Amino acid sequence: MNGISDIVTSVQHTAHYVNAHLADHAGSGAGENPSGEDQINADVWADQLFFDKLSALDGVGAYASEEREEVVDCGEGYTVAIDPLDGSSNLASNNSVGTIVGVYDAELPASGRELVAAMMVLYGPYTTMAVAREDSDVVREFLLREGFSEQWGRFTVPEQPTVVGLAGKKNERSDAFNEFAAELERELKLRYGGATVADLAQVLEYGGLFGYPTTTRYPEGKLRVHFESAPLAYLVEAGGGSSTDGEQSLLDVEPDELHARTPTFLGNRELVERVEAALGR
Ligand code: AHG
Ligand code: MN
Ligand code: MN
Ligand code: MN
Repeated sequence: MNGISDIVTSVQHTAHYVNAHLADHAGSGAGENPSGEDQINADVWADQLFFDKLSALDGVGAYASEEREEVVDCGEGYTVAIDPLDGSSNLASNNSVGTIVGVYDAELPASGRELVAAMMVLYGPYTTMAVAREDSDVVREFLLREGFSEQWGRFTVPEQPTVVGLAGKKNERSDAFNEFAAELERELKLRYGGATVADLAQVLEYGGLFGYPTTTRYPEGKLRVHFESAPLAYLVEAGGGSSTDGEQSLLDVEPDELHARTPTFLGNRELVERVEAALGR
């Protein structure tokens, strides 16, 4: 198997194990992560599990994580960038969480154009994993369950928008954006659950837009380029959708440091273009 297949298989098996044991690790804080946010036990536990498996692969040369200050050198091969547990604050309330993985053929920091694959695991009522990779034009979705991962069909963004989740946040610098957001929230169904992977899954199923704009608290946006925004943009654009930071595809964002953040919008092309128009005014 090539390096990408080994990584996909390893993430699949590790995610299957994480899914089975999440309840044992829903406990409270473990400290702070490099982004200065609360870390829960499960963040650290999941990060260690993925590290142990992925860093041991011949095709992995570096391991970068939302939960670790620095990239860990593991020899030659791809750089894996991971958000081991996305939306981890949802765990205490037993709401959906996820895992996001980007596979870069470059040292970090790097733009999303260096991605060769991206994966998104959703630990929901059942657990699925979506994979986009440069050596296959089909974005696949797997059902992860006991000893068996069934492949589902192609993973595409529906043409018609139905849902919108803009984190309920207001952009502090753009009234035009806030008017756009209010209009969209009147037009479409509001879906916001506090985990990007779960909120994006709504968009990928029903069509629409997920976004986390710049806010007072997060003037650069909250989501991290390497661990969340770029890998998810890779997936969504491979599935026929679109992404933007307000001006350009999220794959063109050039982060200046490992934990760089960016305003993040993902979903239907038409809505992404409306975001850019609103933010451009
Ligand atoms: P993580 O748990 O990996 O830190 O990610 C949380 C992120 C993202 O998943 C979610 O969309 C967003 O934070 C929620 O932010 P708010 O709690 O500010 O709404
Ligand atoms: Mn976090
Ligand atoms: Mn996250
Ligand atoms: Mn996380």
